[in-house]
Amino acid sequence: MDCNNITVIGLQWGDEGKGKVVDALARTSSYVARYCGGANAGHTVLAGGEKFALHLIPCGILHEGVVNVVGNGVVFDAPVALEEIEHLHQRGVKADAENLRISSCAQAVMPWHKMQDTLSEQKLGGAKIGTTARGIGPCYADKAARSTAIRVGDLADAGVLTDKVRRTVALKNRLFSALYDAEAMDAEAIAAEYAEYGRRLAPMICNTGVLLRSAGAEGRRTLFEGGQGSMLDVDHGTYPFVTSSSVTACGVPSGAGVPPGAVGTVLGLIKAYTTRVGAGPFPSEQDNATGDYLREKGHEYGTTTGRPRRCGWFDAFAVRYAADLSGVDEFALSLLDVLTGLDEVNICTGYRVGGKELTDFDPAVMGDAECTYETLPGWQEDITSCGSYDALPDAARRYVDRIEEILARPVGVISVGPDREQTIFHNTTIEGLD
Ligand code: IMP
Repeated sequence: MDCNNITVIGLQWGDEGKGKVVDALARTSSYVARYCGGANAGHTVLAGGEKFALHLIPCGILHEGVVNVVGNGVVFDAPVALEEIEHLHQRGVKADAENLRISSCAQAVMPWHKMQDTLSEQKLGGAKIGTTARGIGPCYADKAARSTAIRVGDLADAGVLTDKVRRTVALKNRLFSALYDAEAMDAEAIAAEYAEYGRRLAPMICNTGVLLRSAGAEGRRTLFEGGQGSMLDVDHGTYPFVTSSSVTACGVPSGAGVPPGAVGTVLGLIKAYTTRVGAGPFPSEQDNATGDYLREKGHEYGTTTGRPRRCGWFDAFAVRYAADLSGVDEFALSLLDVLTGLDEVNICTGYRVGGKELTDFDPAVMGDAECTYETLPGWQEDITSCGSYDALPDAARRYVDRIEEILARPVGVISVGPDREQTIFHNTTIEGLD
């Protein structure tokens, strides 16, 4: 299928600054769709001097005329979404059935999912995953289990919902009491609370796959907005220290209900260095003054949980793997300004495991990997008002060029600050972006 869609995904461990690029691209799209994850994601978008923190609602909500879609692959937290909608309304942003549609097949995150997420992490102690405690893993587990799942479509049918909640709570109460000595949940109260959410959301609930496929047939552009980052993908990331959904471009067709050809141009988001929240391997981590510098300068604290992020050098070996996996066409490089002020900058170009250089990237060995670094000169000049690639200092241009060389794809967009205006369009081939 010939299509002009765009898929934007993170190629590291999330928090690559997708919000700003998705926001810029939303202007050129008729639809913006989420296909994975849930309220564990967090995009911060600066628009018109105002800061918007979005977790579940796609970034296209800030643009008039864009229809925003929460796809079937998402785990949907109704109270969080309603709070976000309310917050948007208070600031004069439209968010209703006309510009926001939620898949009836998306899974509903229920109170027991959040409870289990927290209790299970506590029980794991030192072996914990370091989740966002948003109930993501338990909700996807119930999706696969089927008999204990509740979908968004069920929320809008009070009778069906009450039956399912009663049945599931009876089971979960016994389970949580045995496993965690937890207090029993009140099925009737939960059913009533979620039926009310369903009533409010009902006008927005529909078969979003049909909607997106029709849009494609009419030649209208959909922007697929990835959540998290490729190294957190449930199949292809640093398992088990991952999230529970298919976050790469490979997850778009099943998570949005569109054919594989609808993925379109794949724009891979990369941060000029690397961050990770939660536990798990991170070979280029700098648990030292450099890491502290990046954290403070880049304000590297979680949008969703406020946790300090682990920081390190740009890992080109891991990004190359993620870019190949998703068929990335070009990159958007974010937070380049954060590297300003360092004498030297390092790029990880490969791993050694047991003293041997690895030829093929494998996320399974990352815990034992040592990075091979290439060192480049840093730059001291403030780049936050550079409006073009040519305006960047030599050393910054060299850093960007070297990344393009190693990753064998162009860097189309360079971000040098949080505002929409602080964006350099360099070699982009994406129509409407520059
Ligand atoms: P979960 O998705 O809450 O189950 O968390 C699993 C792992 O993914 C943890 O290491 C989280 O910190 C990480 N994670 C989930 N969502 C995001 C995100 O949007 N950005 C960065 N890390 C995330």
